[in-house]
Amino acid sequence: MNKKAIGIFDSGLGGLCAVREALKILPDEDIVYFGDTGRVPYGGRSYETIKKYARQDMNFLISKNIKIILIACGTVASVAIDYLKEIFPGMPIIGVVETACEKAVGIAKETQNKNIGVIGTDATISKGMYKKYISELDLNCEVYSKACPLFVPLVENGHINKDDIITKSAAELYLSEFKNLNLSSLILGCTHYPMIKNIIDKVINDKNGKTELIDVGLEAAYKLKQELTKKNLLNNSGEKGGLDIYISDEGLNFKNIASGFLGFDINSGVNKIDIENY
Ligand code: DGL
Repeated sequence: MNKKAIGIFDSGLGGLCAVREALKILPDEDIVYFGDTGRVPYGGRSYETIKKYARQDMNFLISKNIKIILIACGTVASVAIDYLKEIFPGMPIIGVVETACEKAVGIAKETQNKNIGVIGTDATISKGMYKKYISELDLNCEVYSKACPLFVPLVENGHINKDDIITKSAAELYLSEFKNLNLSSLILGCTHYPMIKNIIDKVINDKNGKTELIDVGLEAAYKLKQELTKKNLLNNSGEKGGLDIYISDEGLNFKNIASGFLGFDINSGVNKIDIENY
């Protein structure tokens, strides 16, 4: 048994989709979450900047006595995971790419439909890690990728209501070309996207479509549990764990959106830090 905390980070709100699931399946664990709200979005930045930000995010979490880190950010996991594993050799690190691809290939086999869609930030799509890993798992899968750069700022600014007209228009603009591709699944390759899953689903599956939407943060939470079990790092004390949330800037929306998404009030449990010090 290991009572140290689990570290989870993202550029902002998105990684909370992994936190939400981790709270359900790992109730005894303490979780420390960092959302880099002062520097979001990461997805349009250079690979060098994304690596620098990710290194600082990791340094901060490691200062909190962490036993494992989940990179709940498709952009960082695509661009920087090898670099982070190299510079933090003693720290177990999990990303979001592999588990989502495994899920998509599983659905492709089950449905005998090898068409898979991937959406993400500019950096994620240009790096192509989802596509690469899917072809390593099954060469016959056909992967259709598309960057949707406006989705992250829309989520961070609270445009997440299922009837939000701006997000609906952006989703139509980005995703209408996917409607006729008969995809067995669509990987929501950025952890912000599950917050607008209803809207994406409506666009993709409007004509009785059967495309399954894959939440990469949720899939990675299952992997987190597997890794903790495998490495004998689980905390099964029987006492309910805590959630500490840190952000790098106090925007207007974070606490409200996060509380709504997690289903409980986080207002008193959010701390602001200066990430440039790490
Ligand atoms: N949630 C991040 C991801 O999964 C958003 C990246 C960004 O800040 O642009 O890619």
